Amino acid sequence: MPTNVVPIHGRRKADTTENPIKVLQGLVADDMNLVNELILDRMQSPVALIPELAGHLISSGGKRLRPMLTLASAQMIGYEGKRHIGLATAVEFIHTATLLHDDVVDESNMRRGKKTANLIWGNQPTVLVGDFLFSRAFELMVESDSLRVLKILSNTSAVITEGEVLQLTTANDLSTPEDKYLEVITAKTAVLFAAACEVAGVVSDQGREVEEALDSYGKYLGIAFQLVDDALDYSAVQATLGKEIGDDFREGKVTLPVILAFRRGSDEEKAFWKRTVERRRQEDGDLEKAIRLLGQHDTLNGTIDRARHYGAMAKDALAIFKDHPAKTALLDIVDFCIDRAY
Ligand code: IPE
Ligand code: IPE
Ligand code: MG
Ligand code: MG
Repeated sequence: MPTNVVPIHGRRKADTTENPIKVLQGLVADDMNLVNELILDRMQSPVALIPELAGHLISSGGKRLRPMLTLASAQMIGYEGKRHIGLATAVEFIHTATLLHDDVVDESNMRRGKKTANLIWGNQPTVLVGDFLFSRAFELMVESDSLRVLKILSNTSAVITEGEVLQLTTANDLSTPEDKYLEVITAKTAVLFAAACEVAGVVSDQGREVEEALDSYGKYLGIAFQLVDDALDYSAVQATLGKEIGDDFREGKVTLPVILAFRRGSDEEKAFWKRTVERRRQEDGDLEKAIRLLGQHDTLNGTIDRARHYGAMAKDALAIFKDHPAKTALLDIVDFCIDRAY
């Protein structure tokens, strides 16, 4: 298995500065404890397989980035109520449900450093427990007593699924235009980031300008996040990432690093991509060759450069907010998402 084979320029080395995710965790720690309690409480069911399977994924950790975005957004705008706790929990449940479903669809074997639920229990219970977590998320949304929150998060769930289905229709298509790719990642990933931030604005009742700024911040951050995820699929250290390297390639998923390498490649290279990604006829050594070609055409850097562009847009969206430690943390988390190795 290749490890860290393609150096990406200009990325910050780990541990040289205070890790922004640690800072964010520290800032929202009290609220996050409540969220974690609520997660454990609401994943329960008398049907033992449900908490067993859900708990397998949930107890493996994960960054909890999306609920922290809700909590930090609420803090930044001075929200003093408690409704953000349930909403942060709902957001993480939606995320967890999509991971269960996504690993079935992608036939992935590793998640958060452990075997996937589909590998252990099979596809059927994994899909159903994903549905269960979606439904629990809806219960939590209803408890927020806000029709706008309900509208935002229910629409988000529909759009995520649209993104995953749209992605199926672009799979194996090497001529996928960049804007189509952007449409997919906006739907499958960025819209939940956006909603995670926006709902904090809605419950704090500070008007559309605040909601829209939070929505833009989350959306651009989410796009940057998924661009980096698609680069990491070819370049990360597997043990650090906690997911199998090369999942996207094996599956024939056409992500930006491959779109760019196909465009920039010679006829011989185009034939290689057509065989491996379009027809999915792969042999030993093909993933290594793919990674080499991405390096030769500098397409991982190209992908990260685009992530930086969206990251800058995310930061600028926060301009309307007053200085606050939570604002600083939200600005710095953009850099974390771009420089991240996991
Ligand atoms: C994984 O998200 C799914 C993507 C949108 C790429 P995360 O990288 O936030 O997953 P966890 O929750 O930290 O495991
Ligand atoms: C993430 O897509 C989007 C969702 C989970 C909805 P990926 O397929 O790229 O995510 P990973 O790489 O499996 O985490
Ligand atoms: Mg996947
Ligand atoms: Mg991925």
